[in-house]
Amino acid sequence: MRTPLVDQTAALLAHGYRWLPGLRRDAPAGVAHTRVLGQRAAVLCGPEAARYFYDEDHVQRRTAIPGPVLSTLFGHGAVHTLDSVEHRRRKALFLSVLTPGGVADLAAHACEAWDDAVASWRPGRDVVLFDAASRVLTRAVCRWAGVPLDDAVARDVTAMVDGFATPGPRHWRARKARDRRERWLAGLIEEARSGVEPASARSALDEVAHHRDAGGGLLDSRVAAVELLNVLRPTVAVCWFVMFAGHALHRWPAHRERLASGEPEFATAFAHELRRFYPFAPFLGGRAVRDLEWRGEPIPAGSLVLLDVFGQHHDAGLWGDPYAFRPQRFVDRPVGAFDLIPQGGGDPATRSSLPRRTRHDRTAGGAHRALGADPLRRARAEPDHLPPARARTGEEQVRHHPCDLTAAEASRDRAVNGLRRGGVRRGRLRPA
Ligand code: HEM
Repeated sequence: MRTPLVDQTAALLAHGYRWLPGLRRDAPAGVAHTRVLGQRAAVLCGPEAARYFYDEDHVQRRTAIPGPVLSTLFGHGAVHTLDSVEHRRRKALFLSVLTPGGVADLAAHACEAWDDAVASWRPGRDVVLFDAASRVLTRAVCRWAGVPLDDAVARDVTAMVDGFATPGPRHWRARKARDRRERWLAGLIEEARSGVEPASARSALDEVAHHRDAGGGLLDSRVAAVELLNVLRPTVAVCWFVMFAGHALHRWPAHRERLASGEPEFATAFAHELRRFYPFAPFLGGRAVRDLEWRGEPIPAGSLVLLDVFGQHHDAGLWGDPYAFRPQRFVDRPVGAFDLIPQGGGDPATRSSLPRRTRHDRTAGGAHRALGADPLRRARAEPDHLPPARARTGEEQVRHHPCDLTAAEASRDRAVNGLRRGGVRRGRLRPA
């Protein structure tokens, strides 16, 4: 095992999604050793590695998330920072609102919001798909969660996602947006608790306000706000996948008709392929709880353990022709709990054995029905604004793949400016 002396954080920022696959390429047994954020780190990849990573006896999450990510994306005190009993208890809160019935309700709200939005589109006028989707999903999730609608929420929530891995003004915008939204939601939670403005029964606001942690007490109102935001924020963030769907349907138009036909099996396969092809977390991180060994490679206690999510989803051995966008690969293919991990792997309740995917699949599947086919069927993509559908191979494909931007570029290009390098500006559509 050789851990470089020189810190590789700059390489991470420079190479983005390519960084970990590049490191692993020449590593023995596919395990790379590096140094990032001043700490030694081991890099693993693949479904077996994911299973190993999600075992709490190997990797703990509590201390692995950097402060700037907590101050923007997840929030201090969030479920993402807990382990063992505290984690399971807090996670139960999310599972209590994201039941199949709850998710179906959320999808119904999203369908309604899409119908309203599409009806307001004027023929011949451009629609910016990313912005439209963020507003629609904000409207839907606020109504569903029992939170008063405020159009600025869409802007703030997308800012939090956009700025978490970005230095400079976008990062500070993300911090301010989080602070503003946490204060707002903490106020609503206090009003719900005191009865000044009661929350509707069983809504996310109600459940979060009255949730009791492992110690039996109510959550501090700011932490409760963090968790309510951890329902609102990722739901609105599905707008990134809406934009990727627009991109995929433009680049591979052969899928349009079948998706628009409403065939549920194909819709699910399309959503899986979208998440595989455009995963937007490049990797997940945790910390070795003791001296570990993975495939003969030692991982010292306290090291960071990084799970290469992008590498796993673009591994030719696992997927065959991984740079081809082929929803068919998921038709009739059972997906193991650790195979497709763009939103984490394993058990939704415990992080270890049952399919955690279920939460996301339900959400992604339900949201997909609500978000995907309809607006894209009623509008045509404006070809001038989209990148050329050029076939690429090998290294060139890797270099130019839209998923292969640096974290900063990816966030900027996909979210705020929308793949500007390729020509898409936030995925413009023109209603026919
Ligand atoms: C844009 C779509 C989404 C993406 C890319 C995404 C991605 C992720 C990722 C990468 C993780 C970390 C997994 C881990 O550390 O093992 C995560 C965790 C989580 N996500 Fe999502 N997610 C999305 C949508 C959602 C939605 C719609 C919800 C709920 C409404 C949600 C709720 C959560 C929760 C509660 C966790 C914490 C899990 C834990 O620590 O046990 N996510 N998500």
